[in-house]
Amino acid sequence: MNPLANDLSGSTPHALPTLGVVLVAAGRGERLGAGTPKAFVELHGRALLEFGVGVVTSLPHLGHLVVVAPESHAAIALDIVEQVLPEGSPWEVSVVPGGRERHESVRFGLEALPESVETVLVHDAARPFASAELFERVIAEVRRTGDAVVPALPVVDTIKRVDADGIVHETVDRAPLVAVQTPQGFARETLAAAHSTAQLQHEAGLPTDDAEVVQRAGAQVRTVPGEQRAHKLTAPADLAILEHFLTANLLGLESEA
Ligand code: CTP
Ligand code: MG
Repeated sequence: MNPLANDLSGSTPHALPTLGVVLVAAGRGERLGAGTPKAFVELHGRALLEFGVGVVTSLPHLGHLVVVAPESHAAIALDIVEQVLPEGSPWEVSVVPGGRERHESVRFGLEALPESVETVLVHDAARPFASAELFERVIAEVRRTGDAVVPALPVVDTIKRVDADGIVHETVDRAPLVAVQTPQGFARETLAAAHSTAQLQHEAGLPTDDAEVVQRAGAQVRTVPGEQRAHKLTAPADLAILEHFLTANLLGLESEA
């Protein structure tokens, strides 16, 4: 069933969205411990979700954005969407409730996308300052290659393998290691098929990103350059880092990688 069907009124043929974005905002934010889900934590008076909805709906694509929110915050999420959606935006937006685990939230988001969507990006609302350029880079690479695409940054710290007692056993060669971010992009069929079987694979541990879900299903995942400003709010110390990027953004220093 195409959820847009009801919108297709009148005699003008409407173009259907081929790009879908699932913005996952339904986590509990336990490590941050703010007492409110992370996507609704405010920076300079604006909820993180506002920034994510803003950047996605500013992309010049005919798209459908699904915001996956905690059931308790669905009304607030809708208010945010109404405030932020630019007038005349080519974006359709819906809000759906999330699941217990991140991969369930993603699946609920995917199920809410119209059938016309061919390329899907999944993005963490907890990464409010991922740039429009990063979204475009991921979209372009998915469309060019058909593969799954993740933004990645080189690992700069020295990496060591430790045991449960914190004893170091070895230094790991970091050359082939990268840290990955979101938005992650996929051919819609690849991601939907992988998520429909993901819950059968609990013995492999819970997947922490969507690239892992499609990789377990046999798909190829490739990287594009990530960016520091796509930093995720995880713990209280990350608030200062996000403050920095918000200020840099306000000052127009956006070209910083
Ligand atoms: N997320 C979600 N549904 C879940 C779990 C996570 O939509 N059941 C979303 C979060 O809202 C966040 C993103 O996935 O935008 C990344 O997850 P994470 O950083 O782990 O956020 P939380 O799960 O909220 O944080 P914590 O693990 O500390 O509780
Ligand atoms: Mg989590």
